[in-house]
Amino acid sequence: MAVDPFNALTSLLFASLLLLSPVVGTGACRKSAASVTKSQWSSLNSTVNGRLVSVVPSALWCQQRGGCTDAEWGSARFRLSNIPGAMDSYNYEQAYDGVGLVCLRNNTANCAEANVPLYSVEAQTVADVQAAVKFAATHNIRLVVKSSGHDFLGRSTAADSLMIRMKNFKTATFVDNFKSASTSMGSAVTVGPGLGAGDLYQLAKAAGKVLVVGSAATVAAAGGYVQGAGHSILSRKFGLAADNAIQFQVVVASGQLLTVNSQSNSDLFWAIRGGGAGSWGVIVSATFRTYGTFNSTIFIQTYAATSHQVAADLMQLHASHIFDYEATRTCQYFYLQKASMTAIPILTLYTIAINQTTPQTTALLAPFQRKALAISGVTLTSNVQVTSDTNDVVFLEDDISGIDLITGSRLIPKETYQNRVSEIGPAYKTLLDLGTLNILGHLVAGGQVAANSDISSAVHPGWRTALVHLLLENPWTDGATITQQNHVATLWNDKQLAAIQKMTGDNGPGAAYSNEAAQVEKSPEETFFGPNYAKLKSIKTKYDPKGLFIVRNGVGSDDWNAQGTCRLH
Ligand SMILES: Cc1cc2nc3c(=O)[nH]c(=O)nc-3n(C[C@H](O)[C@H](O)[C@H](O)COP(=O)(O)OP(=O)(O)OC[C@H]3O[C@@H](n4cnc5c(N)ncnc54)[C@H](O)[C@@H]3O)c2cc1C
Ligand SMILES: *[C@@H]1O[C@H](CO)[C@@H](O)[C@H](O)[C@H]1NC(C)=O
Ligand SMILES: *[C@@H]1O[C@H](CO)[C@@H](O)[C@H](O)[C@H]1NC(C)=O
Ligand SMILES: *[C@@H]1O[C@H](CO)[C@@H](O)[C@H](O)[C@H]1NC(C)=O
Ligand SMILES: *[C@@H]1O[C@H](CO)[C@@H](O)[C@H](O)[C@H]1NC(C)=O
Repeated sequence: MAVDPFNALTSLLFASLLLLSPVVGTGACRKSAASVTKSQWSSLNSTVNGRLVSVVPSALWCQQRGGCTDAEWGSARFRLSNIPGAMDSYNYEQAYDGVGLVCLRNNTANCAEANVPLYSVEAQTVADVQAAVKFAATHNIRLVVKSSGHDFLGRSTAADSLMIRMKNFKTATFVDNFKSASTSMGSAVTVGPGLGAGDLYQLAKAAGKVLVVGSAATVAAAGGYVQGAGHSILSRKFGLAADNAIQFQVVVASGQLLTVNSQSNSDLFWAIRGGGAGSWGVIVSATFRTYGTFNSTIFIQTYAATSHQVAADLMQLHASHIFDYEATRTCQYFYLQKASMTAIPILTLYTIAINQTTPQTTALLAPFQRKALAISGVTLTSNVQVTSDTNDVVFLEDDISGIDLITGSRLIPKETYQNRVSEIGPAYKTLLDLGTLNILGHLVAGGQVAANSDISSAVHPGWRTALVHLLLENPWTDGATITQQNHVATLWNDKQLAAIQKMTGDNGPGAAYSNEAAQVEKSPEETFFGPNYAKLKSIKTKYDPKGLFIVRNGVGSDDWNAQGTCRLH
């Protein structure tokens, strides 16, 4: 890999500033975790029964082990079970967003500078979590919480910190009548943050239930997912995950374990449902409503388009048919992707028709399909159809991991699809021409998400008027030059966002789903939290007055430097 001397120098300077940070701006900075003595760490280790482990970046972990196969490296399940320091988007394990010193799979020379914690408490019990929280507070060091390491903003890793890893909290308890305080809440499941959606779906199936959870094997329902709002193939039918959450058990900054529901710590209950991942405390369990299960149908159809213009025409046609799926509250992921800059665009439609049969789904898709195939240059190359228990049609065996990827997103208002369809094709054309490889549409709003606008929670109101969550994924490869990486890093703010704003006609910050968004977002308070920010901040101050739980772009992070190590005000 080519090394840009200027960037390498800047990174070195940065690295030394980081190390010096405890003495800069006395009192306003946290202490370096590396300055905590061996005997202090060893005392924490005894308190947590030997569950304190050293953390290294995933590339170094593999090297020390004598190598990881490609299958292991790319498996989210393998990485989260075995490698405490692993992130799915492993660029976040690197210092400086992959622009400076990096710890690559085939180059581990600079691994000591990478962006991973020093130690992790591999928590097994609530007492372990409490001990770690108190230790970080007492020693005034940076704390991070990780359940799966899925995070698209890199919020579950930080240099020179103590991590609490929740992957061992794997229980799921289904009950017919959950009591929250004295109120009967009906059928529900209480889950630990170590349980990934894939395993949760299978347990739900065995219990004859469904619930609102994400479409990835390892995403943690009771981790970052629900705190961000949580969309699902079932959200148009039953609302967002946050809308379905009825109780949390949370270890807050004081080390206390709180029961958080509509009656107990109700302000925190309001905040934690949509107020952003990682800002409130450590969730040790979350309780969600469940529903009796039923069958659904998934169609996976792949359309190839011969050029950017043909693909843009196809996407405009798609937009003009998006209300075809309204009455049945069908979910659809519509992913327009290019395998490389020179490849042709491919549209993959994952249509999940809730409580619908195969013939019903065929009929639902027919009007779009007929017109799509009439566009010259469009061909249908693959068509897979499965009808089964709803828990099966969303089941993914594993998630792709160990890649370099940054994202950007906006919630697209329903109004855009009603009144601005003619802007949609041109927006796709612009995005493709900019070199965007992955334009991932998620028809997961509208329906019950809109109907739930009366729920009082911190979910961004933009979710209630949206129809689509549009996510752009910008990858690079380990072999990319610094120039190529810098190009990817600036694409969202410099170019892609403008194309989306032109499409929606929105000149303001708009609304975005904080869990799948841009780390480099210019006004994250407004974009991720909208009108809820001021109230969120006052609740944050009440439960976490010293800012123990600070994540990039999270509530209260505006008071800290980018590393979350020094208070700015
Ligand atoms: C392949 C893939 C598919 C996805 N699919 C969906 C989807 O279908 N729907 C959807 O809504 N989102 C989806 N997401 C986004 C997902 O919601 C976010 O990545 C989310 O942050 C994952 O939470 P996590 O706890 O699993 O991840 P982590 O990386 O472990 O944590 C993410 C954030 O949550 C905090 N956190 C984690 N655990 C806890 C805890 N126990 N207590 C307090 N804070 C905690 C962390 O500090 C961090 O800030 C997907 C992501 C990927 C990579
Ligand atoms: C913590 O204690 C366990 C058990 O004694 C030991 O194996 C482990 O190496 C210790 N952790 C650290 C970071 O020293
Ligand atoms: C599924 O559809 C059947 C009728 O086709 C209906 O009776 C049932 O209530 C539906 N279930 C859900 C959860 O919508
Ligand atoms: C659900 O789908 C399964 C698998 O396709 C099928 O065997 C079963 O009969 C279906 N159940 C209902 C109620 O339609
Ligand atoms: C490192 O891996 C990348 C691909 O991930 C490759 O392009 C590059 O040539 C490799 N470098 C070395 C030194 O092997």
